[in-house]
Amino acid sequence: MADTRPRRTFAVISHPDAGKSTLTEALALHARVITEAGAVHGKGDRRATVSDWMAMEKARGISITSAALQFTYRDHVVNLVDTPGHSDFSEDTYRVLSAVDSAVMLVDAGKGLEPQTLKLFQVCALRGIPVITVINKWDRPGLSPLGLLDEIERQIKLRPTPLTWPVGEAGDFRGVLDRRTGEFIKYTRTAGGATIAPERRMPAAEVDAADAEVWAEAVEGHELLTLDDADHDQKRFLAGESTPVMFASALQNFGVAQLLDLLLELAPGPSATAGVDGSVRDVDDDFSAFIFKVQSGMNNAHRDRLAYARVVSGQFERGMVLTHAATGRPFATKYAQSVFGRDTASVDHASPGDIIGFVNAQALRVGDTVYDGAPIEYPPVPSFAPEHFRSATAGDIGRYKQFRRGIEQLDQEGVVQVLRSDLRGDQSPVLAAVGPLQFEVVEERMKNEFNSPIKFSRLDYQVARRTDADGATALKGKRGVEVLQRTDGTHLALFVDQWRANVTARDNPEILLEALPAGGS
Ligand code: G4P
Repeated sequence: MADTRPRRTFAVISHPDAGKSTLTEALALHARVITEAGAVHGKGDRRATVSDWMAMEKARGISITSAALQFTYRDHVVNLVDTPGHSDFSEDTYRVLSAVDSAVMLVDAGKGLEPQTLKLFQVCALRGIPVITVINKWDRPGLSPLGLLDEIERQIKLRPTPLTWPVGEAGDFRGVLDRRTGEFIKYTRTAGGATIAPERRMPAAEVDAADAEVWAEAVEGHELLTLDDADHDQKRFLAGESTPVMFASALQNFGVAQLLDLLLELAPGPSATAGVDGSVRDVDDDFSAFIFKVQSGMNNAHRDRLAYARVVSGQFERGMVLTHAATGRPFATKYAQSVFGRDTASVDHASPGDIIGFVNAQALRVGDTVYDGAPIEYPPVPSFAPEHFRSATAGDIGRYKQFRRGIEQLDQEGVVQVLRSDLRGDQSPVLAAVGPLQFEVVEERMKNEFNSPIKFSRLDYQVARRTDADGATALKGKRGVEVLQRTDGTHLALFVDQWRANVTARDNPEILLEALPAGGS
């Protein structure tokens, strides 16, 4: 029964409005129409394809959910994992990116690289995942293709290696030159992107007279790129040194099939993964998976709690009893689900690369491993350096129990980092965030889900460094610094500013004061 078709598991990163939802819908439509041989869908249907998934996001306003969309394309199973749309959630994004094997960076042709694209790209770079760049909205006026390449190279330090090159400029787009085959992929404008494949491949010799001039320019551009050493190199792509680039119009469905083909051809699939002790689990070994996201409150009627797991090795069969590496306890998988839409379906089998949701998984935390057979534990997902700090108290003293439960739950989900000290006591923990929007999520959820309004007071700290118990003792009473402990046991020294952190480190070399990975704004 095991489905051993090859997997491609990826995420799309982009600035809001670059066309991520449009592309997601187009990908899903394309895959579906392919399976339904020849069917042609209008825009109404296109919207319906993944409406559940999108509705969930829209209802929440900002994208704070993460889910996976699974479809088949040619002989592959493709998993598209959703990423939060805002860079304030870069910690969340980092966790999601630990579950994918590649990323598609979607860039608006009219705007180029935007702040959040850059932030999210940096998260990809930290994780070392290969990135395919899609320049979107090529059906309307935009920046010059060379200008866009230059921006990518300068700002993200990846060598852009276009696989296709536009024929005609943005806004007067005739198609692309496939740089590897020399063919013309001609674009036919359609009303509202109703048909799925407005592209036709033809050899250079068949290019119409009407397109001859722009075709000649494209050929010239392609030759210049080759001279400039901008041809695709698979090794450099996998090493995170270069990024293949393609030009598309998600709205018009142009480039969608090309992107799917590229993902199958170039993007890496699941591979062997090392545990904390250095032992390696091959994809064909016994089942193992790690939790990259925990979420509750998707259904207010029941206190549900979903733990999203990425299958690392082996075949999953619903009902298996696994071991939870953190506690050594058995973990039953009777309630495993596929994780998109509100109407979740139970999942019976899953293979490496797939995403499964475990329902009511109270014991599972972000970063945890579950396994069958020989023990394995995957490395924890690192936390980012928080840059925003608030002390939190229950808005209603009478609801202190709910307040505590809520904070504990949000802490376990990784919505914010929760810091405590004897001095401050449990009544007013310090909440630490990478981006300030995280506090809004906390406020909202404490009020609506846990029925305990929260009161914040802003704290004047800006910088966190990792220290230890000795450091905590040594720093006690020093000006401009306070040491608190995170739930995972890490001691964090919070400083009023960078200057104070640097001076303290310089004057006290015996105190551990280590910088944390930066992810914030
Ligand atoms: P996001 O999820 O990244 O935030 O972006 P989304 O897909 O919602 O797209 C943002 C806007 O850009 C939408 O327009 C969408 O139609 C448009 N768009 C996306 N891809 C393309 C493309 O390839 N070409 C052109 N010309 N436009 C594109 P909107 O007016 O905000 O929404 P709608 O009324 O069209 O749905």
